[in-house]
Amino acid sequence: METLEKIKVKQFDVYSIREDFPILNKTVNGNPLVYIDNAATTQKPKAVIHSHVDFYLYHNANIHRGVHQLSNESTEAYEDARIKVQKFINAPDLREIIFTRGATESINLVTSTYGRRNITEGDEIVISTMEHHANIVPWQILCGEKNAVLRVIPIDDNGEIIMDEYVKLLNNKTKFISVTHVSNSLGTINPVKKIIKLAHERNIPVLIDGAQAVPHMKVDVQELDCDFYVFSAHKMFGPTGIGVLYGKANLLESMPPYQGGGDMISSVSFEKTTYNEIPNKFEAGTPNIAGAIGLGIAIDYLNNIDFGMLQKHEKEILDYTTSKLIEIPGVKIIGTAKNKASVISFIIEGLNPLDIGIMLDTSGIAVRAGQHCTEPLMARFGISGTVRASFALYNTMEEADIFIKGLNKSISMLK
Ligand SMILES: Cc1ncc(COP(=O)(O)O)c(C=O)c1O
Repeated sequence: METLEKIKVKQFDVYSIREDFPILNKTVNGNPLVYIDNAATTQKPKAVIHSHVDFYLYHNANIHRGVHQLSNESTEAYEDARIKVQKFINAPDLREIIFTRGATESINLVTSTYGRRNITEGDEIVISTMEHHANIVPWQILCGEKNAVLRVIPIDDNGEIIMDEYVKLLNNKTKFISVTHVSNSLGTINPVKKIIKLAHERNIPVLIDGAQAVPHMKVDVQELDCDFYVFSAHKMFGPTGIGVLYGKANLLESMPPYQGGGDMISSVSFEKTTYNEIPNKFEAGTPNIAGAIGLGIAIDYLNNIDFGMLQKHEKEILDYTTSKLIEIPGVKIIGTAKNKASVISFIIEGLNPLDIGIMLDTSGIAVRAGQHCTEPLMARFGISGTVRASFALYNTMEEADIFIKGLNKSISMLK
C-alpha cells in the first residue's frame, strides 16, 4: 500500500482528482456540468461523503457523556477531527480549536463574547471595504449595542487594501481589527501578516476571516500570529454546517461563554453554574459530530495534495481565463490585485450579471451572479453586482474554455 508520504509527492493530476468527486460527472441541462462556483461552496470528495454514511451506519452515538462503546467511538472520532484541524492550521494548543457551524457563527461568537466583554462606548473596530456581510453585520450589531464605531479601511481600484489608510485608522480608540484573508468577490489575497503586525505593535487584537483562504493556501496561525482565525468546512471540500474558530488560549479563557447548555458546564446548581474548560466552554449542546468528522476527512484529503502544485494549477487557470475574458468586448474585471486567488469577478457593459448567470446555466456552467454578500464592496465599485467564476483544484483548462465559449454564446443571445 502507498504511504501518505508517497501520495503527497505524487504529481498533481487534475483528472485523477476529478474521479474523487462524483458530482462532477453530472449533466446539467444536457451538458456536462462545469462547476465554477467554488467560492460559494466546494464539491465533496467520496471520502468525505462516505465518512458521513460510515458514521451513521456504524458509530452514531452522542459524544462525551457516554459509558458505552459507540459513544466512545464517536467521541474519539470527533476529538480526532479536532487534532486534524489543529495540525492543519498549526495551532499550538488543541484547546484553541472550537467547532462552530461555520465562519459566520465563529465571527458571531467572537463579537458576542470577546466583543461584549471588551468593547465600550466610543471604541473603534476596524474592518475593510471588501468584507463579506458575515464580517460586517456582527460588528455593526456590537457597535449598535455599545455605541462603538465601525471604521472601514478603503481599497484602491484594483481591489487592494490601501495600507497607508489602514495605518491612519489606528489610534488609541481602536480596540479590534477584523479582516478577510482572501476576498470572496475580488480574489484579493490580503497582506494579513503585515496587517496583524501593525495592529500588534499597538496591542490591538486581530481576527482573520479565512473562509476563502483555506482551500487555496497553507495557513499557519502561529506564523501569522493572528488572535482569531475562522473558516467553514464546506468551502474546503468538507460538509456544510461545520466550521472552526481558532483563538489564542489566553483570549478564549478570558471570554464568557457564547451559549449555555450541556457540555459547556463543569457543574450546575440553581444557585450557581461553573463553566467547562476551553474548548468545551464554547461548544454547548450536541455538536455536528458527523460534520466535524467529515471536516477531518477533508483535511486528510487536502494533506494528500501538494499545495505548491495546487497553487500552480489554480494560477494557470486564473491567468488563462483572465486573458480570454479581457478579449471579450465590454468585459471589465472587478478585482485586479497583484496577489489573487482563483476568483474572477466581472461585469459586461449593458448586461445584467443575473441574466448572464442564468444563461450560462443553460449550458451547464455554474457561476454566481449578484453581490456575493458584499453589498458595500459593490457600492465601492459603483455596480449592482458581478458574475463570479471561482475555480478549485478539480477544475480544468478545458472547463475554462467551455466557460469562455458559453459566455460568448450567452452574450450574443442577450444582446
Ligand atoms: C470571505 C467569507 N467570509 C465568510 C463567509 C461566510 O461563510 P459561511 O456562510 O460558511 O458561514 C463567506 C461565505 O461565502 C466568505 O466568502
